[in-house]
Amino acid sequence: MNANEDRAFWQARYRQQVGWTTELRRYALAASGLPKDARLLEAGCGYGALLDALQTDGQSHLTGLDIDFPALQSISGTAKALCANGLHLPFPSGVFDACLCHFYLLWTNNPMQALLEMKRVTRPGGWLFALAEPDYSARVDEPAELAPLGELQTHALLRQGAHPFIGAHLAALFHNVGLARIECGILQTAAGEEAPSDENHEREWQVLAADLRGLLNSTELAYWEALNWRARRAGTRRLHVPVHYALGQIPL
Ligand SMILES: C[S@@+](CC[C@H](N)C(=O)[O-])C[C@H]1O[C@@H](n2cnc3c(N)ncnc32)[C@H](O)[C@@H]1O
Repeated sequence: MNANEDRAFWQARYRQQVGWTTELRRYALAASGLPKDARLLEAGCGYGALLDALQTDGQSHLTGLDIDFPALQSISGTAKALCANGLHLPFPSGVFDACLCHFYLLWTNNPMQALLEMKRVTRPGGWLFALAEPDYSARVDEPAELAPLGELQTHALLRQGAHPFIGAHLAALFHNVGLARIECGILQTAAGEEAPSDENHEREWQVLAADLRGLLNSTELAYWEALNWRARRAGTRRLHVPVHYALGQIPL
């Protein structure tokens, strides 16, 4: 893949992942009683897949922030886009009604600091929504001969500085940053749980391979890819990574 194809691939992947949290997103906004013109910030918005979905839902006051300037060029519609570090949000305190994130804490250097900043810029009585954060420690890979793939991916994520077990700690993080009315759980739809088409299978492999490239050489990757496809054709392949969410309110 060249750089443009690479970006197009991740953009499509993030759009797919936003589909996994549609119900949760709508539930969170309805349960919190936020109006359509609530001031919403997405920290770590990437190419804006979640912002697009929020616009489709009728939310009219959106800001997205990411450290990746080229990704922000894809943000369209009325959402404001800002290139900055989520660990030092460039906003005064209490200027948003809610702050959301989606597959973001996994990638920040300091998830606690990222949440504290999201809390700081949200008004008392406002909300934090961490809609999707994975827990690779509870990953299921079948058949058993493919289990090392999971361990390798976790290792690769750790090497990239990511927090692959963040989902399991989300509830504790929400408590520790001092949020109230916390609701947490695990998403029902996530990687590997969608229609078992060859296309989805190939996309899951590409995501895995992208993480493994820094760790394995092309011969090793080809070996695992062949095993992976053999299991797929035999109908024995299963890959499940639990994805957690948490909602919480800023105390008044
Ligand atoms: C997996 S992507 C998710 C993008 C988007 N939330 C979505 O679901 O479509 C994670 C994003 O977090 C951003 N990110 C990681 N650390 C960051 C930081 N300290 N400040 C701002 N953005 C950050 C990355 O640049 C990347 O765009």
